[in-house]
Amino acid sequence: MPYIPEDILQTIRETADIRQIVQEFVPLKKRGKNWVGLCPFHSDKDPSFTVNEEKQIFYCFGCGEGGNVFKFLMKMQGLSFTEAVTQIAQRYGITIPKRPISQKEKQQKEIGQQLVEINTAASEYYADLLRSSRSAQAARDYLEGRGLDQDTIDGFNLGWAEDEWDGLIRYLEEKGYSLELAEKAGLIIKRTNTSGWYDRFRGRIIFPIKDHRGDIVAFGGRTIGLPGQEEQPKYINSPESPIYHKGKVLFGLFQNKSSIRKAGQGFLVEGYMDVVSLWQFGVREAVATLGTALTEDHARRMKGVTKDWILLFDADEAGLKAASRALPICYKLGIRPKVLVLPEGEDPDSFVRKQGQQALYERLENALSGIDFLIETGKKHFGTDTEGKLKTIESALEAIATIKDPVRKSLLVGHIAQKLGVREESLWQNLQEKSRRPIALRTVSKDKEQKKTGNDSSTLIRIGNKADEKILGFLLSYPQYIERFIEYTPELWLEDNVLSELWSAIMHLHSMTGNVNLSELYKRLEHNPALRSVAMRLTSAFPPCTDLESMLRDLEIYCLNRKKKALRLQILQQLREQGEDEDSNELLRQLQSLR
Ligand code: UTP
Ligand code: MN
Repeated sequence: MPYIPEDILQTIRETADIRQIVQEFVPLKKRGKNWVGLCPFHSDKDPSFTVNEEKQIFYCFGCGEGGNVFKFLMKMQGLSFTEAVTQIAQRYGITIPKRPISQKEKQQKEIGQQLVEINTAASEYYADLLRSSRSAQAARDYLEGRGLDQDTIDGFNLGWAEDEWDGLIRYLEEKGYSLELAEKAGLIIKRTNTSGWYDRFRGRIIFPIKDHRGDIVAFGGRTIGLPGQEEQPKYINSPESPIYHKGKVLFGLFQNKSSIRKAGQGFLVEGYMDVVSLWQFGVREAVATLGTALTEDHARRMKGVTKDWILLFDADEAGLKAASRALPICYKLGIRPKVLVLPEGEDPDSFVRKQGQQALYERLENALSGIDFLIETGKKHFGTDTEGKLKTIESALEAIATIKDPVRKSLLVGHIAQKLGVREESLWQNLQEKSRRPIALRTVSKDKEQKKTGNDSSTLIRIGNKADEKILGFLLSYPQYIERFIEYTPELWLEDNVLSELWSAIMHLHSMTGNVNLSELYKRLEHNPALRSVAMRLTSAFPPCTDLESMLRDLEIYCLNRKKKALRLQILQQLREQGEDEDSNELLRQLQSLR
């Protein structure tokens, strides 16, 4: 991964023309200041995709996707940031200077390339055998029995490993590959008692595993029930290697990413055969984790292709559990998950083979949103009495606790509240507690320390604002104390515009209703989503008060100081403006009292 120095990045950013690049993928028409077209990221009927040349950004009013030219290419072609930057640099003839890479990096890169190369050779060997070896007849019959045709077999480079100890070894030796390298790739295994190696995959259908770039990084092998295989695991997989980390790779992603992008949605399934079989039956939109639970790295890759994913797991206890475990990760990474539950006993492969593509898409119309799935399974699992309901709420909140987008989070909280008949406000409190960490009012005391040591004023302002954030976070968390803080006149000293806007909203509500009810406040802020989300962020970022009294005391001292300082400044200002006259003495006296 090349490192791109900031100044070069800047040049690339300034040189690239977003309209030009977008137009290679999307026909655009001029409308007013903007250029508009059909959004490539969702199925768009009216052109809702706009490009603003002046700001060099794109934005879709339909699906909310937006960003700069790098983001566009990343989304459009499933590239990483560096890949997108490199591509644009090449297009405009900007050279990215090669960072002198260390000897170690160079070695690692070379080994990586060699491993991919030997895997590719092995994959060709396996594919050849499946195509033409006489002993592979059972394997060909097996695949035919599972409904796969030649196109599918080729599409996934499926292969066959002979049921012998050294078939691959002999092939690789003949081709001049080092067996140490083959071992490193996980293709062969060192013998323990004698010298030499033996093939890892024997008597198995081979599923090459490609990473997102299309490099073959590992293999899976499935038994076909040959005599003697009964005791063996159904699938075996390559071990982790310098090029294969199973928590990062999704089977089928490379083959299916462009159709997933086009469809605007993908299916996350559990097995190799699910991906392959769905492909065979026209659903070229599935990816699978490989015998592991979904990780954040997986989810990040998925989100790079589309935000809308349907969890399509086996209809058994394990599948339902896996879905429940995957949902929080999806939410955390900004994926919009749905769950499609299959008829009992089916997996995606068996379902689509029996009932076909159409039936799957029809069923999809009744897929549950991730949150509804959690609520439904929670109800079934924990029951609908009070205790059960609490557990259901807990699991639903747990899943959405880490959502970053405040608007989405708030919609989901509202949904849970409505579905389970509880007050939204109490759910927010619960969420708050989840995210609270037991830290004391550190920013405030730091602020004090810094004042004493007289550090530079820019840090003071920044930290001061952080403390101000904390004040509002506290008041929103413990609205019963708002009244008590009115006398500290935060309106005089809150420096941050957003914070002081929020404070006026609180004051306004207080003056209208005589108290501050949080859900009422959020309701009133609905017309101002930005402010609303600040309020929510402040509230959920507020740490728990283990000692409410001392917290209050700290805050009051802090606010009193802020108030005095603000008044002093006001008076000084007034003194400066009015010059020495008879009122000055009174002002000076006041000033004295504010020390
Ligand atoms: P499944 O048992 O659901 O397999 O395991 P499957 O995909 O339906 O396979 P078929 O239809 O019987 O051929 C799901 C995934 O778990 C991993 C594999 O990645 C498999 O695709 N697995 C399963 C293993 O790694 N080892 C095993 O022994 C079994
Ligand atoms: Mn299966």
